[in-house]
Amino acid sequence: MFMWRRPPRPSRQAKLVRYESPPTKGKPATQRKIEAGFCMQRIYLDNNATTPILPEVFEAMRPYFGEHFGNASSIHHHGQETRAAVEDAREAVARLLGCNASEIIFTSGGTESDNLAISGLVDAGDHVITSSIEHHAVLHVCKHLEDFGCEVTILPVDGRGLIGPADLRRALKPNTKLISIMMANNETGVLQAVDEIGKIAAEAEVYFHTDAVQAAAKVVIDVKRIGCHALTISGHKLHAPQGVGALYVKKGTKLRPMLYGGRHERSRRAGTENVPGIVALGKAAQIAKQGLDRGDEKKMSALRDRLQQGILAQFEDASVNGEGAARVPNTANIRFEHIEGESLVIALDLKGLAVSTGAACSSGAIEPSHVLIAMGLRSDQAKASIRFSLGKQTTGADIDIALALVQETVARLRDLSPTYRRATVSS
Ligand SMILES: Cc1ncc(COP(=O)(O)O)c(C=O)c1O
Repeated sequence: MFMWRRPPRPSRQAKLVRYESPPTKGKPATQRKIEAGFCMQRIYLDNNATTPILPEVFEAMRPYFGEHFGNASSIHHHGQETRAAVEDAREAVARLLGCNASEIIFTSGGTESDNLAISGLVDAGDHVITSSIEHHAVLHVCKHLEDFGCEVTILPVDGRGLIGPADLRRALKPNTKLISIMMANNETGVLQAVDEIGKIAAEAEVYFHTDAVQAAAKVVIDVKRIGCHALTISGHKLHAPQGVGALYVKKGTKLRPMLYGGRHERSRRAGTENVPGIVALGKAAQIAKQGLDRGDEKKMSALRDRLQQGILAQFEDASVNGEGAARVPNTANIRFEHIEGESLVIALDLKGLAVSTGAACSSGAIEPSHVLIAMGLRSDQAKASIRFSLGKQTTGADIDIALALVQETVARLRDLSPTYRRATVSS
């Protein structure tokens, strides 16, 4: 039987008012902790690894986790709503790259787009040309293709990190089907002459794919001017979330899918779309396009140059990897002779500055970066290299603090370095 009960009284606890001491009242908790000396301000200069999601991007994607939950393939209201959002995002990405929306395939990120482009454009017996400084998402898929009867040529680069057009021409063979050369390198930011590579590919009538993960949103991209058949981008490198990306595929290009299932993405990439991620990528692409139209990359390169020149002025034996080549505006890869890069990254992190090294940890050992080694650096020089990469959130104040932290930390590590002491005593 139903019995009416009195609702519980509001708890007395709820009436307690939180006490804030007057000088800190109204300030965010982290700010209060920094001022009280309990925690440090963190500066993030590792935007080539990943970027923070912009607030506008987060706001754009938020409803697609909740009220707009439909499957974009459903024909009812909920599906139509998310389908429209996916197609708007496709238009925005197409505007960023200078192509038609129908030429954009959404993927799970840069790795998938690279794999899809490369494995989808070649068959057993075909020859592929790539370069020694590509991301592993390209190099490892090319290695894998060799197991399936493809031939692969890996072009060298010069000391600036550039491939030579003459080397590329010489590498062409009657069975060459694809050239895959990145637009901007993730470690040095060096930009390849993609327009020229596109012309060589067109003359030879071979496909051209470019990995533009580190170029998109940093420099203007026009796929028609480049003359490429496929181009890769990744959401989390341009202030959208991790786990979403896109591949441009020129109209009429025959691409074999990598995933089979439903007819999503015009049967080129099966799988229910990641609607929140795609919406976020569309918003980030729109913001990036507006920024490029305003010339924001000049502001970014001014900040990067301030950091770079500040470091070079502080240390005589510091140098820029990739100097002399055109670079994306946000990246400076700097070599500090007689410094163990890993130690510098850890010491800077302890002081609140996030950067990364020209080395990777593989099977427990620190391996020098394949990119810097390909550019002719010795192993110790590659391991002494640090990548600083700026993002849209980076401010002039961040650069000033970073400069001060680098100065004191490098000087301290050099005092402890036996090779530095030997070098300074003998000079
Ligand atoms: C040049 C380049 N290509 C591809 C990738 C892979 O992209 P994702 O992390 O989206 O798989 C990265 C990521 O660092 C990259 O820098």
